[in-house]
Amino acid sequence: MEKIVALSKRRGFVYPGSDIYGGLANTWDFGPLGVELKNNIKQLWWKTFIHQRRDMVGLDAGILMHPRVWEASGHVVNFNDPLVDCKTCKARFRADHLLEQRLGIEDADGMSADEMSRLIREANLRCPNCGNATLTDARQFNMMFKTTIGPVSETGLEVYLRPETAQGIFVQYKNILGSNRVKVPFGIGQIGKAFRNEITPGNFIFRVLEFEQMEIEYFIHPDEWEHHFDAWLKAQQDWIGAIGLNPEHVRVREHAPEKLSHYSKRTADYEYLFPGSLGWGELYGLAYRTDFDLRSHQEASGVDLTWFDQANNRRFLPHVIEPTFGVERTFITVMLDAYDEEETFDVNGRPDTRVVLRLDPKLAPYKAAILPLARKPELTSLAGDIFAQVQGDLGVLVDYDETGNIGKRYRRQDEIGTPFCFTVDFDSLEDGAVTVRDRDTTKQERIAIDEVAPYIGERLRR
Ligand code: GAP
Repeated sequence: MEKIVALSKRRGFVYPGSDIYGGLANTWDFGPLGVELKNNIKQLWWKTFIHQRRDMVGLDAGILMHPRVWEASGHVVNFNDPLVDCKTCKARFRADHLLEQRLGIEDADGMSADEMSRLIREANLRCPNCGNATLTDARQFNMMFKTTIGPVSETGLEVYLRPETAQGIFVQYKNILGSNRVKVPFGIGQIGKAFRNEITPGNFIFRVLEFEQMEIEYFIHPDEWEHHFDAWLKAQQDWIGAIGLNPEHVRVREHAPEKLSHYSKRTADYEYLFPGSLGWGELYGLAYRTDFDLRSHQEASGVDLTWFDQANNRRFLPHVIEPTFGVERTFITVMLDAYDEEETFDVNGRPDTRVVLRLDPKLAPYKAAILPLARKPELTSLAGDIFAQVQGDLGVLVDYDETGNIGKRYRRQDEIGTPFCFTVDFDSLEDGAVTVRDRDTTKQERIAIDEVAPYIGERLRR
């Protein structure tokens, strides 16, 4: 993980938030390459789950919603983290994490605060920060960030920054039904920011205060939930394959029936084996949420959210299967599985380590780099033409680099995951061809300049 964090900062993928002010815990900013990788993840997700399916539509709902939304959804009462404070050093910890780490308890998050407090007292657990046995009882803290609409805080309307994108979908479900030719079963997908007042340190971007979710609410007839649940489990598995994660680092964990949320009949998480002490952690979730959300919003708003199924002449409140994906967790796992170090030799024959980010070309920030062998006008001019042609033909991001020796330039591209480098040399002026070097194999071959754009295009479609 440290290597990924260091590479991310060095090469402009992810920077600590507010860095020149000493940082702000659990906030990170995505740099020039990070924003490209993140956008590529989101675009591939949108294409896969919205554009390529006839049963899905998209939505972009607001971050701020009426506070009654969060009362109806249960977040005001239930969206809590159990926290303990150290009376000596004032450090604050998640009680469930403490029990999991210190007592080896699995899934402590399903326990009540009283139960957690009892276990902490019985085991006489000490503060992980100062070592004193002065931990308070566990108390529930709501994780939603609050802000106020209006210039005067006393009279303004108190609202929340959404802690999940899902509720925007439920709230707009009726408008979407009324304005689109959708029929149950169908789904609404959304990508957007969510905010949670997380206390536990983040492990890089694994757990942050502000993150993006890619969520789907799939509306179904209740009789068909098992079939749809299995189909979405498979669709998530296929996605994990498409972004190139190592199957050995991914597993499905079913939530035990007694640990399910009150509204869920079945929940499964895709977990990823993170390095170091983090271990297996949630990557994505899949939940059968029954009709809990639509029913709660129907009751709270007084608006009828049932659907009339003309084909079968029946009216019902649809049930929901919810596949949810975190953008940051996708980003981090894609980076972790792509990162590789290869022992090799430098141009002088000395042992050397080649760092290579074996990203799927669809996700790589730059799809190719165009490199004139020397900074000579005839080479840079031809390389500039090829650069413009590839950008024009494919509309993808291509790098151009004329600084340093060619070996170093290849290494720079390897480290940021650029799958193909095209080198323009003096022969190119005669034979109208360039050398293409493959990031993964380092094999080189000669291809015609006219073939450069089709070469990249063909590999992006694979
Ligand atoms: N609508 C359901 C929902 O929000 P969740 O399991 O709380 O479910 C969904 O969150 C996904 O969002 C997680 O699987 C994870 O990928 C991501 N996620 C949740 N909290 C996060 C955080 N603090 N930082 C980064 N990603 C987070």
